[in-house]
Amino acid sequence: MTELSPADTAKNAAAVAAVALVEDGMRLGLGTGSTAAFMVRRLAERVQAEGLHLRCAATSQATADLAKSLGLKIEALDDIGWLDLTLDGADEVDPDLNLIKGGGAALLREKIVACASARMVVMADGAKVVETLGAFLLPVEVIPFGWQTTRQLVLRVLDKLELEGRAVTRRMHAGAPVLTDEGNFILDLALEAIPDPAALSVALNALPGVVENGLFLGICDLAIIGQPDGSVVELTVEEIAE
Ligand code: 5RP
Repeated sequence: MTELSPADTAKNAAAVAAVALVEDGMRLGLGTGSTAAFMVRRLAERVQAEGLHLRCAATSQATADLAKSLGLKIEALDDIGWLDLTLDGADEVDPDLNLIKGGGAALLREKIVACASARMVVMADGAKVVETLGAFLLPVEVIPFGWQTTRQLVLRVLDKLELEGRAVTRRMHAGAPVLTDEGNFILDLALEAIPDPAALSVALNALPGVVENGLFLGICDLAIIGQPDGSVVELTVEEIAE
């Protein structure tokens, strides 16, 4: 392997530690993003070296494509059913292991897959660990029909939760709106800090044009935080609460 940057060393270390949790016969959810891509590579290496028999569902087309290119078989989530373990990245991790996800626009499938899993393990580098969620833009997946009306409704929700004046922008790439794997748009909410993530999540998801938001609350069981020196720190809710 070519030499990794300190940031990639941290991501790879988290991925290696996460893949060490995989056991023969497991049904796995494979996350999306650059850290998840390290995990998929390390997983493919273990499968090849150890002949593991796994059943894998991917949280995005990009992850499915990468996994297949490395010889992993990807199945539809509904063909597998419930999963034993999902390994995914995150954009922010707070002390209760609540997350912001969706930087890669895959939050909807990621949340469905994580919630279909007995255990969700997040892999991240130290830059993702925060005291309060919200410095990272909160992604909200909305259907294209009437999206500007939905955006206005999102702004009203923010007003009610005393988050008035925050920017809500449709995510663009190369001059075109980003489309999720489900053909939806992403609204990015610049909130700075989210004082009550649960109230915000419920209020956003109650809007008719909102499909899902990027707050993953009470879903993550373990966060593996990679360090630039290649070591890892494991965070669980219990340990943080002590
Ligand atoms: C994709 C995600 C990713 O897990 C998140 O954006 C982290 O990505 P990366 O590992 O590249 O920093 O939620 O929707």
